[in-house]
Amino acid sequence: MNIVESQFGEQAKLFTMINDNGMQLSVTDFGARIVHLNVPIAGTQRELILGFDSAEEYITKDHYIGATIGRVAGRIANASFNIGQTHYQVVKNENNNTLHGGPDSFEMQYWQSETSKSDGKLTTSFTHISPDHSNGFPGNLTVKVTYTLDNNNVWRVNYEANTDALTLFNPTNHVYFNLTGHPSRSVAEHLLSIDADHFAPLDDHNLTTGEARDVSQTTFDFRTAKKVNAAIMSSEPQSLLVGGGLDHPFLLNKVVDSDAVQARLVSPDQKVAINMQTTAPAVVVFTANFGDDYHVSMREEKLLNHGGITLETQVAPGAEKYHSFGDISLSENDTYHATTCFEIQF
Ligand code: GAL
Repeated sequence: MNIVESQFGEQAKLFTMINDNGMQLSVTDFGARIVHLNVPIAGTQRELILGFDSAEEYITKDHYIGATIGRVAGRIANASFNIGQTHYQVVKNENNNTLHGGPDSFEMQYWQSETSKSDGKLTTSFTHISPDHSNGFPGNLTVKVTYTLDNNNVWRVNYEANTDALTLFNPTNHVYFNLTGHPSRSVAEHLLSIDADHFAPLDDHNLTTGEARDVSQTTFDFRTAKKVNAAIMSSEPQSLLVGGGLDHPFLLNKVVDSDAVQARLVSPDQKVAINMQTTAPAVVVFTANFGDDYHVSMREEKLLNHGGITLETQVAPGAEKYHSFGDISLSENDTYHATTCFEIQF
């Protein structure tokens, strides 16, 4: 096992964790972001996620890919919310709303890094202090994101945070999987399963409405594995609304058995699969519905519409208003903890 450090553009660093089975996970301090996840298949490394070759490329092309997202992942309607009796107005960055914590949030920061190796485990941690009033959010917030890789081919993301004033906190990671190894291939033929009896429908501004809708007999029923294509080709209004595909929170069923897999993605050639488990109550699945006019090159290929799929574990967006989704407030007396594990089978 080993961690190799290298430059990632002008200022950023890249940390590549390599386990004894040849699985590699690279993360950068720019946005506490995941850049590579690759595994050896038939003698070559297969890349399993989307990413660019330098921090600068993320800035010019798409700064959310692979990044830590926060303070609040997803959309805050009208960029406003109440905590107790206090009303807050935060900065808008998508029409009238705040997306992913507003402009230049976690994904655009250079985080403090630290690496370690112990007990068959490689660790890279990133820490960032988001000052009081950042984009209008209250409290000095200290966030630590820890990535670990072990020899069971489990890659873990752990979040820890503290604040000095009551605030909102609902982070996620925005990694896009494409298990074919090619951003120029659609994820349509991947098999997806999600242990969720309900999903959260969206309105025509992509905002949740507070409704938790039964997935039975809908495009959103992934309780048994089916091709992602079923959602991409669906004529259901909820899929058409987001440009064909998914951009929706799935409300995960309560886990009874601690070994239970909550979401699973399998490559079209069946040679690689990802099993996800999380402490979060929801997963936002976005099938990279960028449209056919999207022209971004990635690793010498053209990034295709539906060229990736995210499993963004978090409390469902809208929770500041719809408390049935979960509590995203964080007080000065609490420490925030959340963990998501991805087991890679190859
Ligand atoms: C997702 C969001 C999408 C899109 C994307 C950013 O989390 O649900 O609508 O904004 O992030 O590329």
